[in-house]
Amino acid sequence: MSKKFTVSSFKEFKEKGKKISMLTAYDYPTAKILDDAGVHAILVGDSVGTVVLGYEDTIKVTMEDMIHHIKAVARGVKRAFLVGDLPFLSYHTGIIDSVKNAGRLVQEGGCKAVKLEGGEEVAENVKAIINAGIPVMGHLGYTPQSINIFGGHKSQGKTFEVAKKIYQDALVLQEAGVFSIVLECVPYKLASFISKKLDIPIIGIGSGPDCDGQVLVVQDALGLDENFNPRHAKKYFNLGSVYKEVAAKYVDEVDKGIFPTFENSFTVDDEVIKMLENN
Ligand code: KIV
Repeated sequence: MSKKFTVSSFKEFKEKGKKISMLTAYDYPTAKILDDAGVHAILVGDSVGTVVLGYEDTIKVTMEDMIHHIKAVARGVKRAFLVGDLPFLSYHTGIIDSVKNAGRLVQEGGCKAVKLEGGEEVAENVKAIINAGIPVMGHLGYTPQSINIFGGHKSQGKTFEVAKKIYQDALVLQEAGVFSIVLECVPYKLASFISKKLDIPIIGIGSGPDCDGQVLVVQDALGLDENFNPRHAKKYFNLGSVYKEVAAKYVDEVDKGIFPTFENSFTVDDEVIKMLENN
């Protein structure tokens, strides 16, 4: 087993110019595979709502959903750094709620850090969570919990005003003490600029190659949904078509009596069956 990735590793990797890899996971077997494969950090994102629970967006995801999935993932992680997302409205209602809910993800779920969306407006929440001993990861650019403000999934930071706001928010979050920031779907030159300016690692998703690390939703990397092809993601495989092929083959074999064979079955003494017949 390679070395455990900790919150200090994020700083060390930034200082050494080494890239950080993060993938999402929502269940025990996936977590175990990603951990074994050497992924540095695993995120139980609130994307669980869209990619696992079938919601339209992440707004419906609750604290109970997050804790349930973080618990499962935590059981499979031995080495990677585990981050859990604070869901919609779990930190917007005040400092005390923020600390309590971050505490629940760590204490009940078993993650080592929490991630939350937003900049200056959540800086005090970030400080309070860190003061409680919980590391915080920021999330700027396209922030899915604000989908109704953005009016859809759109790249952020194309104008000077928005680019400046994202950069300033990144500085405020760094000042508040976050150990890293996810930068989602911002133009790659802006992501490159922010990555160079900040002392903490910027983890990009749809933000180009110059970020200090990358994060992808594991289902997107595996190609589980053949009809979902977002620009920011890379399909390393077509797992969706493999699932479909396996299911269709199984249906056919059950139909034709090819599966199961006697090798897939258990035996009993003929005597027992004879006794049943004579009873
Ligand atoms: O919820 C999530 O999976 C995320 C990543 C896209 C960064 O926030």
